[in-house]
Amino acid sequence: MKARILFVCLGNICRSPMAEAVMRHQVEQAKLTDQIMVDSAGTGDWHLGHPPHEGTRDQLDQHQISHQGMKARLVTPDDYNTFDYIVCMDTNNLRDVRKLFFGEGKATAEESKRLFTFMELLPAKGIADVPDPYYENNFPFVYELVDSGCKELLKRVKADLKLNE
Ligand code: 4NP
Repeated sequence: MKARILFVCLGNICRSPMAEAVMRHQVEQAKLTDQIMVDSAGTGDWHLGHPPHEGTRDQLDQHQISHQGMKARLVTPDDYNTFDYIVCMDTNNLRDVRKLFFGEGKATAEESKRLFTFMELLPAKGIADVPDPYYENNFPFVYELVDSGCKELLKRVKADLKLNE
């Protein structure tokens, strides 16, 4: 396995499992499952062990993307060592994950490099956070953002792995 990607949101039932399933699907379509591994986790513990939210499952079903066996889990300090790309669905998630990994101390530029927000993949959208459909019930809009952002991430990972040459 050459690249490991972790998506992080708050509950790990709406946005990050959607990104995990969509990214895995795109990786499968690109025939890169032996090179790129995908997972997701949450910063909050309300839904541990639960499958993705019905709104997320609906979107994935509509696009024939599997969510079989997915279960919410917490992000852990060890995830920092495991994953090469830690993609936070909003800026609060990024702040919380930074704190978990680095405490109150400041991460070095090198340490911060693998941690970024999902919307950094889509700068032209001009929005900082993937909105939370748990509160906003805008699952189709979130799906479109997730699909576009995952395509950009796949391009970035392929370039990093020099798979485009
Ligand atoms: P997510 O959405 O972070 O996209 O999974 C949420 C899911 C559950 C809660 C908040 C956000 N909650 O408060 O239970």
